[in-house]
Amino acid sequence: MKALVLSGGKGTRLRPITHTSAKQLVPIANKPILFYGLESIAKSGIKEVGIVVGETHAEIRSAVGSGSKFGIKVTYIQQDEPLGLAHAVKIADKFMGKDDFVMYLGDNLLRDGIEQFVSKFKKDRPNSQILLAKVPNPEQFGVAELSPNGKIKRLEEKPVKPKSDLALVGVYLFDHSIFKAVNAIKPSHRGELEITDAIQYLIDKKYTVTPHIVTGWWKDTGRLDDLLEANRLVLEKMEAKCDGKIDKLSKIEGKVIIEKGAKIENSTIRGPAIIGENTLIQSSYVGPFTAIYHDVTLSKCEIEHSIVLENSKVSNIKRISDSLIGQNATVTQSPLKPSAYRIMIGDSSRVEIP
Ligand code: TTP
Repeated sequence: MKALVLSGGKGTRLRPITHTSAKQLVPIANKPILFYGLESIAKSGIKEVGIVVGETHAEIRSAVGSGSKFGIKVTYIQQDEPLGLAHAVKIADKFMGKDDFVMYLGDNLLRDGIEQFVSKFKKDRPNSQILLAKVPNPEQFGVAELSPNGKIKRLEEKPVKPKSDLALVGVYLFDHSIFKAVNAIKPSHRGELEITDAIQYLIDKKYTVTPHIVTGWWKDTGRLDDLLEANRLVLEKMEAKCDGKIDKLSKIEGKVIIEKGAKIENSTIRGPAIIGENTLIQSSYVGPFTAIYHDVTLSKCEIEHSIVLENSKVSNIKRISDSLIGQNATVTQSPLKPSAYRIMIGDSSRVEIP
């Protein structure tokens, strides 16, 4: 069995971060989202992994490399345009050969990994197995309608009136018959080859498609709120650890991870939180559910329930919450007159000021 990991796409819901970088590399508790997926694939015993990449291919290649650090062998598959999940399957035809495979959306996170799901597929041998989860907002997902005997009746992509609250999780198992389906379907109204249409094709042609309901939490991190929630869920599970330096004036409360080379001076860190390598926290408060990545400087500020990416500087700000601050960004108070908001932000950014 092989794996196909989708790491291309447009990432419109995470602009402006995705104007310059791959959303699959945004860190959750200071580890790129994509790495959680690759680790769970490796844990399920799969060794050969195709990664579909788009415009951000250079960044993905440099972060993942040959895959040896995960114990897998990676082949990169270039998708010239993000023409849909089923299109990504289509272009992986040669890499897959006749093998069964698990398709994993590179921005999805599953608490319990995929081992159970993969072994069920190997035991039952359907043509496809899909993973479903109950969600409060099914209209934002692919939705499955089941018949009373538990079989899948119909799949619909982002339906206006969902027939159930069972969303399609971003992990699917297929045998070679999926290639018949992706070659037969036509683009949807949004111009994409939809994986839901491909699976519906299998159902209509009487192939066996079985559902598996996910029990632990699952997060599709396509939007800021979901990223923050995933960060919260992962931080909650982590163990406290200190590989950095904390001075006598600082206070560490609850589960806090301080990575190598980080310095905490005259500050309070209230966990669950993580402070990245070589980051400096000075005269600041870092509150629960915050992940500060490597080489960041925080000075005289208060921040909570947020993610700060590498090499950024935040100073003299009270207080930041529910935020994602990109790489190399500066957020600061200015002594210049007139006292005004001076802002240079990327396209499609959002700033909320009290
Ligand atoms: P989505 O989040 O469904 O799509 P997107 O990345 O285009 O984002 P948005 O809806 O915000 O514009 O994609 C799920 C995963 O699949 C994600 O990791 C990107 C990847 N993907 C591809 O690799 N190729 C594609 O053609 C598409 C649509 C997505």
